[in-house]
Amino acid sequence: MTEWHKTEWRRFPRVQMPDYTDLKELRHVEQKLGNYPPLVFAGEARQLKAKLAAASRGEAFLLQGGDCAESFEQFGADGIRDTFKVMLQMAMVLTYGAKVPVVKLGRMAGQFAKPRSAATEAINGQELPSYRGDIINELAFTKKARVPDPHKMLQAYTQSAATLNLLRAFSTGGYADMQQVHSWTLGFTESDRATQYRQMAARISDALDFMAATGLAAEDNHEMRTVDFYVSHEALLLEYEEALTRIDSTSGKWLAGSGHFIWIGDRTRQPDGAHVEFCSGVQNPVGLKCGPTMTADDLRKLIAKLNPENEAGRLTLIVRFGAGAVGDHLPRLLKAVKQEGANVLWCCDAMHGNTIKSSTGYKTRPFESVLREVREFFSIHKAEGTIPGGVHFEMTGQDVTECTGGIWAVSDENLSDRYHTACDPRLNASQSLELAFLVADELVNTRNIHNKTAVAR
Ligand code: PEP
Ligand code: CO
Repeated sequence: MTEWHKTEWRRFPRVQMPDYTDLKELRHVEQKLGNYPPLVFAGEARQLKAKLAAASRGEAFLLQGGDCAESFEQFGADGIRDTFKVMLQMAMVLTYGAKVPVVKLGRMAGQFAKPRSAATEAINGQELPSYRGDIINELAFTKKARVPDPHKMLQAYTQSAATLNLLRAFSTGGYADMQQVHSWTLGFTESDRATQYRQMAARISDALDFMAATGLAAEDNHEMRTVDFYVSHEALLLEYEEALTRIDSTSGKWLAGSGHFIWIGDRTRQPDGAHVEFCSGVQNPVGLKCGPTMTADDLRKLIAKLNPENEAGRLTLIVRFGAGAVGDHLPRLLKAVKQEGANVLWCCDAMHGNTIKSSTGYKTRPFESVLREVREFFSIHKAEGTIPGGVHFEMTGQDVTECTGGIWAVSDENLSDRYHTACDPRLNASQSLELAFLVADELVNTRNIHNKTAVAR
């Protein structure tokens, strides 16, 4: 067998990638990036893989969330802080409510490139190439803005490095101290859920006071003062991914240095395509989006290619069928995986199958559909005796109005108030927390079922 190399994908058909016109500039940028330090270290990717393996066995739960597309324009400390905060609050709801360790994985520090359903976009009779994310071209609707520019990769790298730096500082510098996290009330002012959150916070406070009185002070306890927070993005722009991919000296294996976890999108998962080829050769844990057109046969091929050694934690299947359609698709994939005896982590993306156009013209997602898809995901796993291991969603800590519904009942008319996404509509802080409470309830139910089965055996 020939040794895999990070440039191998270039021999395979590629889709959804830009055709750069200035190849000399492209080479120059690739070379520069190739000399820049990787953003993550192989040991971290291995740790994450072990945690995902635990989640695939039902011993932990994956929470993956963040922007649909990170933006150069909206880059700043507050946005990063608030998304991080909401993720930790959600994790606290899950850990406390369902008594399960939560693996925290941001769609952050590299989530720039976007696949598009159409190559061009027309406004008032003018047709231009589609916007493909800030790492490729610009959102403005002008001819110049839509030309793919390789230099944007350098800016994306710099922004990712700065984002990850702040996340690491927050994670270990005392900001994520449990004493603090439980007292955050971001996203809630007055609602039933706010009361529920405050009650939970009060119980945690009580437990912490008790521990302090027994001499187990949080200040001395590393576990209570820090969190492990990982970053992920879609590995779409392969020139960028390749340039940051290096051989890890400890294992001698390739590592995508652009983030801890990378995933393959629903539009780029051709078993013989460039994206699958690239992801097959790196040791990072990888995700595979599975939409309604995924056949059992394709899934078998993809599993064989992406996880030939059947390593637990290596492959996460991120299913995104849409509310009402989970039952039409998930069972066939669950059966195929069972037949193969494949180790995978099942994760529910309750966003991408629920995008609609609102009556006011905005792309939106009804929060009710998001919740319904999560419930369906859990109930089908229950019926099949398999493990629902995680959720994946697009959210922000900012108080946006992009998805309709939720406690604040965002309506079609409200969407224009604070609609800031560069791509798909995201849950705001309040909707994210509401979702976390629902997931915690579902997990408790799942656990009850598993415990009963264990007793019955
Ligand atoms: C995304 O996660 O933003 C995305 C484009 O998802 P999918 O590939 O599932 O459509
Ligand atoms: Co999206």
